[in-house]
Amino acid sequence: MALSTTTALILAAGQGTRMKSSTPKVLHPISGRPLVYFPVKAALDAGCAEVVVVVGHGREEVEAFLKSAFGDKVKIALQKEQRGTGDAAAAGMEAVGAGAARVLVYYGDVPLLEADDVRRVAAKLDEDPLAAVGLATCELDDPFGYGRILRDASGEIVEVREQKDLRSDDERRIREINPGIYAAGAAFMRDALASLTPNNAQGEYYLTDIVSFAARQGKRVVAVPSRASVMDGINDREQLAELEARMQARIVKKWRLAGVTIRAGARIEEGVVIEPDATIETGCVLRGKTVIGGGAFVDVGCVLTDVTVAEGARLKPYTVGEASRIGRAAQVGPFSHLRPESDVGEDAHVGNFVETKKTRLGKGAKANHLAYLGDGIIGAGANVGAGTIFCNYDGFQKHTTVIEDGAFIGSDSQLVAPVTVGKGAYVATGTTVTRDVPADAMAIARIKQENKEGYASRLRGRLKAAKDAKK
Ligand code: UD1
Ligand code: CA
Repeated sequence: MALSTTTALILAAGQGTRMKSSTPKVLHPISGRPLVYFPVKAALDAGCAEVVVVVGHGREEVEAFLKSAFGDKVKIALQKEQRGTGDAAAAGMEAVGAGAARVLVYYGDVPLLEADDVRRVAAKLDEDPLAAVGLATCELDDPFGYGRILRDASGEIVEVREQKDLRSDDERRIREINPGIYAAGAAFMRDALASLTPNNAQGEYYLTDIVSFAARQGKRVVAVPSRASVMDGINDREQLAELEARMQARIVKKWRLAGVTIRAGARIEEGVVIEPDATIETGCVLRGKTVIGGGAFVDVGCVLTDVTVAEGARLKPYTVGEASRIGRAAQVGPFSHLRPESDVGEDAHVGNFVETKKTRLGKGAKANHLAYLGDGIIGAGANVGAGTIFCNYDGFQKHTTVIEDGAFIGSDSQLVAPVTVGKGAYVATGTTVTRDVPADAMAIARIKQENKEGYASRLRGRLKAAKDAKK
């Protein structure tokens, strides 16, 4: 199809004044990705040979994002001054390769667009040999704010007229609008853009004026009736919220139809992967590159960023995880905090108020209550008691605590790293471990208990007397 010689030109140089933000509009996130990610992805998914994004306002940041997300699959063009969408398209044309037979131009603030929506507009030029421009159109009940499609007596499109340039109530009543996807031959587009003048209410160069340019030359502009539900642009934060809700509905529906139970109120970002028969409870937020394995249960309020959860694992409520792995049938939570590089092995348990960081728990290992486990390697079947702390930091460097298979760490112990507790060893409750513990040994470091008979009442007597003396 024609897409192999088509360049997509995505306009993203505008300031986005209505966002009232120091962040460029197209970098505001929606479902975890900057706004501009979605229209670029639509172009790549559609199979466009080349994608050029026109940047301007906040260009360094926008460019940096595009490079990180798409590498050399996108080219960047610079619009130095934001003089309108026509000027932006002209700036973009300078980056379009010589091999491009046609261009597909649309806006970078339209996140719900999908490949097929743009492909259909480009395809129009193939289907209709008389078409000079393919133009997406929609019918809206409330067309306010959009450019209107003006047609002549025979029904041919002759102009797109902006809201601010409409001249009569009849024109304002036109419900056929311009959602902003244009396809044309590259040579025609260059000529059309060169002809633009800022002769309008906003004093800008309007991309939309390529339509009247074509009509004046007796060339046909062919409408491509399009899905209004995906054409909304984002101009302010209210629209950002509305479109995000729609994006969420789309993402959640996709996973539900793929066999995942997702309760209302869960938030699943673009890019997350969930296997069938997993359950995602209400209030969960799954972000980044998170992957949830089949049959896993992610209970209420879990927040996972770049976490891989293996099959059958169970995350109890309010588990927070980042850049970590949770093994098959493992149990984590409630209220556990897995910081980056935590690796909870198969069947291992991490319980409430346990914080892990850069720590691996072997198969079946348990740390069920109240612990800080940083920079650790915990062997299979080891048991870490309540209140255990890995003292991993000396103020300058981090050190590793190793607990070998089957070892038992009594409650309220401190392990001062670097230190190793050998296989099957015991650490007695309340011990501060500063030296390695050999395999099968018991380490105990605490003062022996002494009971002083009758001491309590004598003490109370003394304390009361001291208080009475003050009065
Ligand atoms: C535009 C259309 C309007 C259409 C509507 C659909 C024009 C003149 N009007 O209006 O007919 O109904 O979109 O949503 O095209 N941009 C630049 N450089 C600039 C100005 C804008 O790159 O100098 C980019 C913006 O970053 C934005 C896009 O172009 O992504 C659209 O600009 P915006 O100002 O939002 O146009 P609308 O007023 O919505
Ligand atoms: Ca807009």
